[in-house]
Amino acid sequence: PAAGWSIDADVVVVGSGVAGLTAALRCEAAGLTTVVVTKARLDDGSTRWAQGGIAAALGEGDTPGQHQDDTLVAGAGLCDEEAVRILVTEGPDAVRRLIATGAHFDESADGALELTREGGHHRRRIAHAGGDATGAEISRALVEAVRARGLRTVENALVLDLLTDAEGRTAGVTLHVMGEGRHDGVGAVHAPAVVLATGGMGQVFSATTNPAVSTGDGVALALRAGAEVSDLEFVQFHPTVLFLGPDAEGQQPLVSEAVRGEGAHLVDADGVRFMRGQHELAELAPRDIVAKGIMRRMREQDAEHMYLDARHFGAEMWEHRFPTILAACRAHGIDPVTEPVPVAPAAHYASGGVRTDSRGRTTVPGLYACGEVACTGVHGANRLASNSLLEGLVYAERIAADIARTGTLRPRVPQPLPATERPAHPLLPPESRLTIQRIMTRGAGVLRSEASLSQAADRLHRLHADARDALVEDGKTAEPGVDTWESTNLLCVARVLVDAARRREETRGCHWREDHPERDDANWRRHIVVRLNPDRS
Ligand code: SIN
Repeated sequence: PAAGWSIDADVVVVGSGVAGLTAALRCEAAGLTTVVVTKARLDDGSTRWAQGGIAAALGEGDTPGQHQDDTLVAGAGLCDEEAVRILVTEGPDAVRRLIATGAHFDESADGALELTREGGHHRRRIAHAGGDATGAEISRALVEAVRARGLRTVENALVLDLLTDAEGRTAGVTLHVMGEGRHDGVGAVHAPAVVLATGGMGQVFSATTNPAVSTGDGVALALRAGAEVSDLEFVQFHPTVLFLGPDAEGQQPLVSEAVRGEGAHLVDADGVRFMRGQHELAELAPRDIVAKGIMRRMREQDAEHMYLDARHFGAEMWEHRFPTILAACRAHGIDPVTEPVPVAPAAHYASGGVRTDSRGRTTVPGLYACGEVACTGVHGANRLASNSLLEGLVYAERIAADIARTGTLRPRVPQPLPATERPAHPLLPPESRLTIQRIMTRGAGVLRSEASLSQAADRLHRLHADARDALVEDGKTAEPGVDTWESTNLLCVARVLVDAARRREETRGCHWREDHPERDDANWRRHIVVRLNPDRS
């Protein structure tokens, strides 16, 4: 069927996590007609899974400058210093505005914010809610605010492609919507400003902390639209994800760094604290260093996982401070009060994404990006723990300010909606998702080499070539739908990620090359920026 419906707006926000909903609320407050479209329900997505909290210099004696120093160290020489300065200086007020919007953070008896520590932070500066349910509280507060303000939302809406006018300016997006009545099937939101806030791409790997919806849709859309994407090789693997067996696939339960921030120890099967002596902060070293430390010990001992030991917290502290993690462990038959928790690294966060400037503008006029889908430059080669919710907030606010300031010229030539009977892109069958995940975990996981990456590249290329040949030669492609688009997007981002990981012949931040184990500042203190020709996607 050809595209059936369309909505007009000043701004369409794609995604409904902390970044998307903050951008939408601020745009609406600036008097802009704003529509939020989201792939599942408003409160699905990664934000609600965030545990540890949100980092900002809110504590006594802490300063944005100290937060900046820790962020730059974690980023391993590739942060954009101006982007970081903006993050840490605007962060505290952005958190206060989030509180004013209705989010309740944990407080001590005297009414001050309770702050915890995580890897790479030299101070307690992580605000948290419900103990270890920070993202869920932020999501609740923002969804309630969006509903209270009566913002227009379309759920179950998978974004397909960017619409542009004759001059290459953004003119809206096409969407595939299921089960939303009037807006079912393929349609479009016409708007001169599009804010991508679609989150991450953790589902490109077999085991990830990300929910099933994190399939790189925004990065894939941006690549198809000719926008620049940067730093995709820097995939952050969270060091302590509950180990559920070597073949566990899909979303895995996170065991927050805040557990280590409150004094849990990483130990091997013999009870040895192996992070001691590897870094001055031991278990609280930046995340990439802890993930590498765990992987090295696993290899040395031919073990499938290490352990996080926090038995000394006692039942009361576990129940009060980490109720979500306690419940997740117990649901899998592990009681952290009485036994060490088996943990191993799993894919967690895309430090790279769609390249933006300090106002959230991508390289396509009218297209903005914020949150995990974006690469603002604040994370460099490795994101500092709990900077992601903060980045979503700060840069979403900057985007809304930019759109409000620059106005919203409507596209002069209305664009016809694309017919969808013969998609221009070869679509992959849904079962390709598992194949892609296995290829990526084996070839481009925590530890990479030219041999593993080239094998992954070949196998991904074959998947693409088969789908393209079927379309070009026989006019056949998988039935358009959310699952086929997700597989197609996963393949698109996986191929670019593998290419970037092959090119970066060094070890830096969360990119770990077995065949190039040293950091190479002489050649690689630079970014890998990719812009695809439309037919490459
Ligand atoms: C965690 O709670 O360990 C996750 C924090 C983050 O990813 O920033």
